[in-house]
Amino acid sequence: MKGRALITGASSGIGAATAKRLAQDGFDLILTARRTDRLNLFCSELKRDYPTIQIHSRTLDVRLEADVIAFYEDLDRNRLMPSVLINNAGLAAGLAHVDHAVSDDWHRMIDTNIKGALFMCKYLIPYFKSQNLGHIVQMSSVVSREVYPGGSVYSATKHALDAIHRTLRLELLPWNIKLTSINPGLVETEFSLVRFNGDQARADAVYQDLEPLRPEDVADAVAYCLALPPHVNIPELHITAACQATATRVRKLDGTLRG
Ligand SMILES: NC(=O)c1ccc[n+]([C@@H]2O[C@H](COP(=O)([O-])OP(=O)(O)OC[C@H]3O[C@@H](n4cnc5c(N)ncnc54)[C@H](OP(=O)(O)O)[C@@H]3O)[C@@H](O)[C@H]2O)c1
Repeated sequence: MKGRALITGASSGIGAATAKRLAQDGFDLILTARRTDRLNLFCSELKRDYPTIQIHSRTLDVRLEADVIAFYEDLDRNRLMPSVLINNAGLAAGLAHVDHAVSDDWHRMIDTNIKGALFMCKYLIPYFKSQNLGHIVQMSSVVSREVYPGGSVYSATKHALDAIHRTLRLELLPWNIKLTSINPGLVETEFSLVRFNGDQARADAVYQDLEPLRPEDVADAVAYCLALPPHVNIPELHITAACQATATRVRKLDGTLRG
């Protein structure tokens, strides 16, 4: 047994691929997201394919602090506290310039990507300290270091996550707790569908005519970081498709450049 990994945003994309990859590696899993039906279906498939590991699923909106507290209390009561947290739940909403943006999109991104990630850390860290053990993986982005037109608040949330990650590395140094930030470039998931509010054609266009990362590529990187010996840590891992140079500049399949 490798330990127990708690993954937020496990109902699709990188979170689901990471769950599958860690199941292969023998981790027990606690999977969370808001879409209960989808999460339960995914969980049943995983249990069928990996019958020897323990898999639990819980509906959880990481934006709701009281729910996060109750969630950890429930895990604690049931002796299901994790040894690994993968803070993956996140989103971009819209691609409008600041003066045209929908303020509610900002609230969703800030509440999920920053405050949600913080709540998940805040109420788990005391347990990790008590065990003198743990690994927190933040699913950040290449835009934790970059900006682009229309991405002000999404980039700001990932810059903030980077600041939180680097601060935690200092605050938790006295304990045997590892911290890793994974910074992916373009990954073909439901990310763009969510960003463009369900507009499939607009989402497809983001990945059209190029070869982006697959969620499994990022899952492999997470698995690599978790598999390292106790004295080794990857603080930051940047991973992009071979065809991507910056957040927006990519090489298309026909060799021409975009962005
Ligand atoms: N795709 C990319 O190009 C890319 C690049 C760099 C970084 N990332 C980051 O990777 C992470 C995963 O994104 P993805 O690409 O896999 O997109 P995705 O397929 O849309 O997955 C996002 C996941 O987050 C969950 N989620 C969203 N809001 C939530 C909330 N309030 N509470 C709990 N769960 C919530 C969603 O589940 P429910 O809707 O069921 O709650 C879903 O499982 C995000 O943090 C994203 O910023 C993605």
